[in-house]
Amino acid sequence: MQDPLEAYLDYLGGHGIPYRLSPELRREEDHDGALLAGATTPVHHRQYGEPPIVEHVDPARGLGSDHATHSVARTLAGFAPELPGRTMLELGCGTGLLAVLGARLGARVVGTDVDARTLELARVNAEANGVRVDLRAGSLCDPIQGADRFDWCVANLPHKPARTPDALPLSQHGGEDGDRLFREALNCLPGRQPPGGRLLFFLHSLPDPRLLARIGSAGYALRLCRWKLRWLQDGEYGALRAEFRRRHEAGRSFLWGAGEREALVCGVWLGTRKDAG
Ligand SMILES: C[S@@+](CC[C@H](N)C(=O)[O-])C[C@H]1O[C@@H](n2cnc3c(N)ncnc32)[C@H](O)[C@@H]1O
Repeated sequence: MQDPLEAYLDYLGGHGIPYRLSPELRREEDHDGALLAGATTPVHHRQYGEPPIVEHVDPARGLGSDHATHSVARTLAGFAPELPGRTMLELGCGTGLLAVLGARLGARVVGTDVDARTLELARVNAEANGVRVDLRAGSLCDPIQGADRFDWCVANLPHKPARTPDALPLSQHGGEDGDRLFREALNCLPGRQPPGGRLLFFLHSLPDPRLLARIGSAGYALRLCRWKLRWLQDGEYGALRAEFRRRHEAGRSFLWGAGEREALVCGVWLGTRKDAG
């Protein structure tokens, strides 16, 4: 049987996506469970050194870090030597775990989010961890003014495809083809990053692959740093599952199947902004 990563890369190659594999490419443990652990709040994350990162969450409302957040966090931690004194923007910062980690690693961090409830948790979390994060309410780069530029941008944005607005929560809904948020972010982001600027993002295999093509065309060289399988649970996403399958059959999403089960191939990607010249 073909390896899931090989199959996914063949699929991306078939769509003409330009990318490279990081020399340190790692497979992470599969995620096979609920999206958000039903944790009691606050959660103490011990894997990022001492003291643990404290995260106040609201699982009932779907607000809290999940397996995707932590894949990005582990990757970001691997770039620790690059972060001190750098500017970092987190788009869609949620409860702020990545923003807090960036600040702890020495970056000057701005986080934006459209959801006031999650932004309030991010504020509480920055304070609980004794770091300063400049949190701003609004869509993507809208709250960024003036000439602010960011050496790093971190984005774990919603990118599941769904045709109707209420088919998924705000934290997961990526528009009809799953690429809406990234598409909008690319209208402003390249102008906010210097050559050599980094865009670190999480991407599973459901959105239209043109999402990655667009990031490449916006001037970012793409490198896959980490990957894993995220197994879908029985009944998860209800009627949308048939839509995911239809998209897969039409080549607009990628699902990995084993036996009766289906998984998303998930990656943490690093885009490096090429020199305009
Ligand atoms: C998948 S969650 C990730 C949250 C956090 N970054 C993390 O990794 O735990 C996506 C976040 O994007 C936010 N979001 C959705 N649409 C947005 C928009 N147009 N501008 C900024 N944030 C948005 C949601 O409120 C949510 O907090």
